Amino acid sequence: MTHHALSAVLAGARLLPVLTVPSVASAGPLAEALATGGARCAEVTFRTPQAEQVVKVMAAHGGLTVGAGTVLTTEQAERAVAAGARFLVSPGFDIEVVDKGRELGVPVVPGAATATELMHALKAGLDTVKLFPAEPLGGIGTLRALAAPFPQMGFVPTGGIGPEQMSAYLAHPAVLAVGGSWLATRAHLERGAYDEIRRLTAEAVERTAP
Ligand code: 3PG
Repeated sequence: MTHHALSAVLAGARLLPVLTVPSVASAGPLAEALATGGARCAEVTFRTPQAEQVVKVMAAHGGLTVGAGTVLTTEQAERAVAAGARFLVSPGFDIEVVDKGRELGVPVVPGAATATELMHALKAGLDTVKLFPAEPLGGIGTLRALAAPFPQMGFVPTGGIGPEQMSAYLAHPAVLAVGGSWLATRAHLERGAYDEIRRLTAEAVERTAP
């Protein structure tokens, strides 16, 4: 497989927990639950005002490579990287965010849902995209069809994926990792269900084994 900038950062991790964290107080116990469950990376979405602080706390835990998700602007990209984000994920393709990530020296993984968006990503010199929203788009069948004309591209499918769907994606050679929020939902965090987060993570990590 070709070398992907994101793979270097993820260091072979194939499960990317996508987190929307409602309070900074959750960040430490959440990092601990994910890491003890066997996760090695996490994406903190910039959908809450405290996302930056959450990145900071989770990165300081030391057991996870932490990135930022839902990065829509260059300003968010700057704040995320300053807080300790080692990669940036966007739901769609924005060349300014891509260029900012490059300037900051971190991999940027834009969302792509069509062949045209994949061509934009390729033209921008990218080697990895997030197939988003993977399940509503048609799941593994759509990934297979979109990956075929872009043999150089790596994919991180995300959106609607749960434990039942993940193995089919991971079996595709173009898939670096699968992303999903089912491991630690807002509801889990609101009720402090860290044991459940650890158990769901451990079960999912188990499914990433070849
Ligand atoms: C994301 O931003 O990557 C998605 O919201 C995660 O998708 P999921 O919530 O369906 O797992």
